[in-house]
Amino acid sequence: MSIADDPDRAPARSHLYAMGLSEEEQRRPVVGIASTWTGTMPCNLTHRELAAHVAEGVRAAGGTPMEFNTIAVSDNLTMHTPGMRASLVSREVIADSIELMGRAHGFDALVAIVGCDKTVPAAIMALARLDVPSVVLYSGTMMPGRWRGRDVTIQDMWEALGEREVGRLDQADLDDLARHACPGAGTCAAQYTANTMGSVADFLGLAPFGIGDIPAVAEEKNAAARRVGELAMDALARDARPSRVLTADALHNAIVSVAAMGGSTNAVLHLLAIAREAGLPLVIDEIGEICRRVPIITGLKPSGGPYTALDLWRAGGTSLVARRLLEAGLLRENVTLADGRTLADVAAQAEERPGQEVVADVTRPFKPRGALAILRGSLAPDGCVLKLGGKDDFRHEGPARVFDSENDCYAAIQEGRIVAGDVIVVRYEGPAGGPGMREMLSITGPLVGRGLGTSVALVTDGRFSGVSHGLVIGHVTPEAYHGGPIALVRDGDTVVIDSAAGTLDLLVPEEELAARRAAWRRPERAVERGVLAKYVRTVGSASDGAVTA
Ligand code: FES
Repeated sequence: MSIADDPDRAPARSHLYAMGLSEEEQRRPVVGIASTWTGTMPCNLTHRELAAHVAEGVRAAGGTPMEFNTIAVSDNLTMHTPGMRASLVSREVIADSIELMGRAHGFDALVAIVGCDKTVPAAIMALARLDVPSVVLYSGTMMPGRWRGRDVTIQDMWEALGEREVGRLDQADLDDLARHACPGAGTCAAQYTANTMGSVADFLGLAPFGIGDIPAVAEEKNAAARRVGELAMDALARDARPSRVLTADALHNAIVSVAAMGGSTNAVLHLLAIAREAGLPLVIDEIGEICRRVPIITGLKPSGGPYTALDLWRAGGTSLVARRLLEAGLLRENVTLADGRTLADVAAQAEERPGQEVVADVTRPFKPRGALAILRGSLAPDGCVLKLGGKDDFRHEGPARVFDSENDCYAAIQEGRIVAGDVIVVRYEGPAGGPGMREMLSITGPLVGRGLGTSVALVTDGRFSGVSHGLVIGHVTPEAYHGGPIALVRDGDTVVIDSAAGTLDLLVPEEELAARRAAWRRPERAVERGVLAKYVRTVGSASDGAVTA
């Protein structure tokens, strides 16, 4: 029974009148609009405006909108600070916040407006839990910056740090680049984590194809937001609940999109977490298997080529990607999409810009296989993620250089103590150990900038920014905090990475490892109170999506 019809809920109605809702508006279906607007980052800066347009669309379609907000944490602004620990934790807090608002208010349908990295998976996780008809609005990419005659993104900023350290740029250059790299609101401007997850939302069927691609500051975005409001009412009429949308086939298509678009390694964590919330069985190796057979068909930075997300939109967007994948038989067609179309409709209606070079045919891809691989071995018995980034298969064997935190490693790189051939091991940066599984961009950026990106490997139980590239392996499980083999590595031990074999091994005799294991003690926990302590107690393995119980 609605609030309007329940005699005992007259006190509740008094608050609805207080918000200006007429009796008729109180009788209409209520659509919750979850915005992840936060004024601390450019990524989600447009969400309040978008929410107003979504609300207009809901009203026009006969519903009553109710807006609310969540927190969000910018990876870029917190990178290389203790604040970075809050980033992955925020995914759980955002998911819990949306879920709690949904449970409290019993919305008939929901729209989730998302942008920065964690907000996309968080919203999808919450929608899966609430299981009311839902639509996701991805707020859109930032435009690329322009510097010294070329397009630049946040990736150039981080790599410029390393270039400054080896004298190829000076501080004035770096500061000048900072003024030009990020010209306005929107998410990091290529196929980094946020845009990867935006595409995932399309292919999962929760976001309408063709809307998430529109850049954050493009004038078409507000009209698209209004359309999403209308679609929420349409989803309600079609009873398009996440339990009907988030199927095994939809999840398969989302994984294919990550592979085909050279997506971020963070997608592995988030897909595992979404699968878990949706009650779908997914093991980490299945993601690796799809990435091995699906080529990269978009020429997007950082893995596929030189293009930005703006270039993808102009070329035809994710609809065009869907067309190419569908033509190659790589997608499963029995899925429900946010706007009621079929995948065949999306493919047929995709508008390909004549002469575009951003989206290739599957038979002539940018790279022969997806951007990541799943490895297992004596150093990662439960799995880990290799960012292949379009490189060919490789084997790297080298001496371990062990650091118990990202900061210690960063100092060693700055002091020139890392040399070609080394295998950097950064541990106690996992979900529980960090806590919060920090991204290692402050290491990978300078390594690339110093020209060590392909000669030094990095192995960590932390994770990587979508911007990171090089010989990087993250999400090593079990993590060091839980006594995984990564906790037992010592300086000089030989580590072998073999991407073709799918292995990551520590060449130390078992008796020696047993002795080290017996002597190992978990380091003192750095956080004992508050949200991070709660997170340490509840977070699971990265190979299961690092979800809280
Ligand atoms: Fe928010 Fe990149 S830091 S999208």
